[in-house]
Amino acid sequence: MMTTFWDEALIAKYNVKGPRYTSYPTALLLRSGYSAESVFSALKKAGSALSLYLHVPFCRELCYYCGCNKVISRDTSKADRYLDNLAVEMRSYQDATRHQTVRQLHFGGGTPTFLDENQLLRLMDLLHQHFHFAEDAELSIEIDPRSCSLEKLRLLRNLGFSRVSFGVQDFDPAVQEAIHRVQSVELVESLVNEARRLGFTSVNLDLVYGLPHQHCESFANTLQEVIRLDPDRISLFSYAHLPERFAAQRKIPEDALPDAKEKLALLALSVQTLQEAGFNAIGMDHFAKATDPLTIAQLGQKLTRNFQGYSVDPCDALLGLGVSAISQVGDQIWQHQKDLNDYYRAVAANQLAVDKGLLLSRDDQIRADVISSLMCNFVLDSAAIAKRWDIDFDQYFAQSLESLQSCLDDQLVKWQGSKLKVTARGRPWVRVVSACFDAYLLPQQQNYSKVV
Ligand SMILES: C[S@@+](CC[C@H](N)C(=O)[O-])C[C@H]1O[C@@H](n2cnc3c(N)ncnc32)[C@H](O)[C@@H]1O
Ligand code: SF4
Repeated sequence: MMTTFWDEALIAKYNVKGPRYTSYPTALLLRSGYSAESVFSALKKAGSALSLYLHVPFCRELCYYCGCNKVISRDTSKADRYLDNLAVEMRSYQDATRHQTVRQLHFGGGTPTFLDENQLLRLMDLLHQHFHFAEDAELSIEIDPRSCSLEKLRLLRNLGFSRVSFGVQDFDPAVQEAIHRVQSVELVESLVNEARRLGFTSVNLDLVYGLPHQHCESFANTLQEVIRLDPDRISLFSYAHLPERFAAQRKIPEDALPDAKEKLALLALSVQTLQEAGFNAIGMDHFAKATDPLTIAQLGQKLTRNFQGYSVDPCDALLGLGVSAISQVGDQIWQHQKDLNDYYRAVAANQLAVDKGLLLSRDDQIRADVISSLMCNFVLDSAAIAKRWDIDFDQYFAQSLESLQSCLDDQLVKWQGSKLKVTARGRPWVRVVSACFDAYLLPQQQNYSKVV
């Protein structure tokens, strides 16, 4: 399987730009003019299980590679104003979600642990005031190790958080300097050990491959350190280099970036090393131990995908809170204002901070089903899709099947009866395979990162 990663002909042919399909249609297709009535009616129609995503945009320092929605500041009091606004926003959503119970809560960013202890306490208090939480709701948080003391980690555990994800990216000092994110192994290790001691049930480490000055030899050391820290899960993201969209990325010298061949070698090395260490490859960019719910969901073909990546949560109501947060509830997707001041202005005007949205058509929903199945389970059961949506699969997807021909010729996929399976050789190219079923792709393509 590994040798296929270096196939230069495949790189030349398929390393184009394309979406990561955390949703279909992708967030770039959301349109302005989306009404608060649509949001409220989607929420009121939704079932009883609610997942919350809460975005905290602040970070103390700028990592040059970062593609997240963030605001750099050293002034912690800025978060007080943000919490004031979140409180108003939560009140706006309160009535429409009254029939729902929060089963999952995820804090992402930016850096949620930019908040100090009092702010974290206040935030949890606000959430409990405005939403009804299940007793066993699963609480998870993303942590920049440099922003979290052991005391803060303890507080988070006391507040009910049981899953934690630490951003590592790479331990190599040359890479860390080039990306302006210097953090020691010892720092991460002390937090991972404390998380275990405190009883966090899941520890994830984020890595990124394709960063400046990264090469296989040094990344092998990073992987060994990561394995030694013994996380339950590892996210291994392909560096999305879009300097035209993210100004800080222009500080990264292009000639220090590994080319597509080296990048694939880094991916191959990672997959091999992590698999040998007992981690299962989940979908496109996650790894998990055999006993982890992600692995179990993948084996049972129950893995799903949401805006944060792979998930075991089949919940059909994900409500995003805060600046830039995206929600998907039933057949509707909407996103809050991306700029913090626009967000504050909307909240001050007593409006939902919804900037853009989309009502999925039936065609969107059928294609979303197909793409999710490919991205999560590397298989597409055409007979099951035909039955579920009452369509003649070959006729409905005639154009897609035509574009798929080149993936078939290159053995990225193969038919087994009515099932289209992504081969081991095709796995790094699953975004390309999925794109064959994307009705919107061509005009938007330039705004996405490269596939590998
Ligand atoms: C919001 S950050 C995680 C929390 C915290 N801010 C931190 O950096 O540790 C989410 C993750 O996105 C990934 N990421 C950010 N920018 C990226 C990019 N341009 N390409 C690929 N992954 C990226 C990094 O792995 C990062 O850990
Ligand atoms: S990677 Fe994390 S800490 Fe760094 S700028 Fe992005 S969100 Fe902030």
